[in-house]
This record gives sequence, structure tokens and C-alpha cells, in this order.
Amino acid sequence: MAEIARDFGTPTYVYDAARIIERIGDLAPFDVIRYAQKANSNLAILDLCRRQGVLVDAVSAGEIHRALAAGYSTQGEPPPIVYTADLFDKESLELVVEHGIAVNCGSPDMIDQYGAEVDGGEITLRINPGFGHGHSQKTNTGGEHSKHGIWHEDLAECQRRAEHRGLAISGVHVHIGSGADLEHLAGVAGAVEKLALSVGSSVHTVSAGGGLPVPYRAGDPTMNVAAYFRLWDEARKRLEDRFGHSVRIEIEPGRYLVAEAGTLVTEVRARKRQGANDFVLVDAGFNVLARPVMYGAYHPMSLAPADDGPRELRDLVVGGPLCESGDIFTQEEGGFVRTQRLPDAKVGDLLLIECAGAYGFVMASNYNSKPLPAEVLVSDAKAVCVRARQSVEDLTRLEIVPSH
Ligand code: LLP
Repeated sequence: MAEIARDFGTPTYVYDAARIIERIGDLAPFDVIRYAQKANSNLAILDLCRRQGVLVDAVSAGEIHRALAAGYSTQGEPPPIVYTADLFDKESLELVVEHGIAVNCGSPDMIDQYGAEVDGGEITLRINPGFGHGHSQKTNTGGEHSKHGIWHEDLAECQRRAEHRGLAISGVHVHIGSGADLEHLAGVAGAVEKLALSVGSSVHTVSAGGGLPVPYRAGDPTMNVAAYFRLWDEARKRLEDRFGHSVRIEIEPGRYLVAEAGTLVTEVRARKRQGANDFVLVDAGFNVLARPVMYGAYHPMSLAPADDGPRELRDLVVGGPLCESGDIFTQEEGGFVRTQRLPDAKVGDLLLIECAGAYGFVMASNYNSKPLPAEVLVSDAKAVCVRARQSVEDLTRLEIVPSH
């Protein structure tokens, strides 16, 4: 990490290719792993996934563009790219129609708008089963407080809409939220089975969605993939018996594949005590990693000291450079500052924020006119820059001062 900081500067996101490949391997029992690229859509990560046989999900015209740029083809069985959303904006509708990209409709309006543009075909439905779960209320995507998916009671009406447009419903998809625990995820297979049965034998694919938990804290349980797969496999077998044809199981992980592989390398730039709190200020803030300020998310951290001196452990508050008091990496949901036990950090040390490969760079912003950080991929012990750090010139490149 010290070499990477020296060669590429800080703050920098560093991704470990071997860890991503290992996580892909964990999910091998599923027929299709469809990467939810919203978690980390760097082209090098998409390229790595594609070379490992992982297919991809896209939620916007921009994500379709990324999938194409990373070498995914538009056609194939199973479809290499699936557009999953609750709406089409004009660009995404145009793009899926132009390239014949598969669509997973999360609202009745999507069925009508797509149906009006194509001459029959197939769609899948993203259904809100009436329950959900997430690590935060903001990432719970099921139940009546969520805007996501076709409400389960509207399924029959959506089937009528699809039929009217000459569209066959070839799959059922449920994603109840991000950071759910296995207890809640276990309910999804049963819900999908029931929904698939009410759609009928046009269903050839069921998707378990994403949301697989990641051990952010030491001692968090790791995912029992075999047990989770068994639930789906049993549901699949019952559906195959009823339908008389094979049924494919897809899984759609984002963070499971990339979270643990990512480290945000920052440099300590200031130390100060404010009353009872001992602050370490680093050169990245919520402009670079927004999860703590948005969800009170916990990230493990470690220190790469600039010298060899022994460092005592202390309870530290870690913050960034932004002009906003919420710019703290050690906070609970609601903005309450907490401490994290870390070696006594000094100016010039590197502070490593771990488990940051998912929803890190992709949620970064230019707030306070801070350039976006660099991204580096490490594979076979070689570190390669896969996204250059933005320059200050980049910040104003699209701006225009009107002539007077
Ligand atoms: N499929 C669908 C339809 C989704 O909406 C999502 C995530 C996933 C799959 C992947 O979920 P995952 O396996 O990564 O949990 N920014 C938040 C997470 C938002 C997730 C949005 N949808 C965070 O940092 O925790």
C-alpha cells in the first residue's frame, strides 16, 4: 500500500483481483452470476468479471454503455446484459431497443413503454414481494415503503398488459434489499416460487437478486452459500416439475463480489483533540467514500505508519477534509460520532479504509471541488492504474461562463 501511495498518490482506491475471483468462485453453484455493476463499474472490474464468465446487470444507459465498452455482447442466452429498473428514461429505452438488450421491468409503465417500441418478445418482471430488508432503511427495497418492483398484488394486471403487447414473461426477479441477513434472504426463494407459479410455464429464469451480506466487522458471519443455494435449488426443482422444463437460477450480487477486495488508501494530514475526542484527519472525505455519512456504515481501518516506531492503540475519530461536520468516517446512522480503536496515527502515515470496494468510488462526488480519486487494480502482484485521478482542470471542463 505504501508503494501504491508513493506511485499513484492518495486518496486512491485499490482493488485486489484475486479476491474478486475468489468471491465469484464461491457463487459457482448458481447457473448465472449477474454482477450488479452499480457497486463498482470501473471498466477493468467489468472486464475481469466478463473474463470469469460473470454476466452483468445495468440500471441506466450509462451502465449499458459501460457493459458494452467492457466487451459484453448484447445478444445471447442467457442474455449477457439485463437492464433492471423501475423506469425507462428516454436514453435507456432507446438503447435497449436499439441493441435488443433484455429488460427486467420494475413497473407496469415499463411494460407498456417497452411493448410500444418492440414487436413482441420477452421480458422479465422485478416484483416487490411485500417484504424487504437492508443494512439501512435506505437500502431496504421491499415492502410498501419501497418504490421498487411491481407490487406483488399487481402481478395479474401486469400479465394482462404484457399479453396485450405480445410480450411473454420469461422470468421473475426479486431483490429485497442490500445488506439483508440470511434469515430474511431465506424468505425470497419461497416468494419467488409462488410468484413464478402464478405467472406460469412461460417462466424459464428466476433471479434471487443481490443483497448477499459481507463481513464488514470482524466476527460478522460469512455467507453460507451452499445452504442458500440449496433453498433455491429446491424451489427450482419444484418449479421444473410443475412446468415440465428446466428453470435457470440467477444471482445478482454487487457488494459480495467487490466489497472486500477494495481498500481506500488515504494519508493522515492533521491530528487534533477537541474536548474528549481525538481526531485524525485524512485527505479523503465523504466526497470519496459516502457510506459512513449516508448510512452510518462501519468500515474496518488499519494504519501503515510512515516510520517504524511503536504505536499505542487509541480510540480515534477519523474525519476528512470537507467543510461539513458530517465528514466523519467513524459515525453511527444519524451522524453521531463514535471512535474506532486504531494505532496512534501521525501526520504522514497512511490510513487504510477497508472493505471499500463496493459503493465506494461509484458514489464519490466533486463536493468542495475535490477531484475524484485514482483507482488501481492489483493482479499477480502488479499494481495497474485503472482510472487516473481527476485533475483540477477536469473539475471545470464542462462549465461555461456566459459572455457579457
Ligand atoms: N440487484 C438490484 C436490483 C439492486 O437494486 C441492487 C442494489 C443489487 C442487486 C446489488 O445489491 P448488493 O448485492 O450490492 O447488496 N449504496 C448502498 C447500496 C445500495 C444498493 C442498491 N441496489 C450501500 O453502500 O450499501
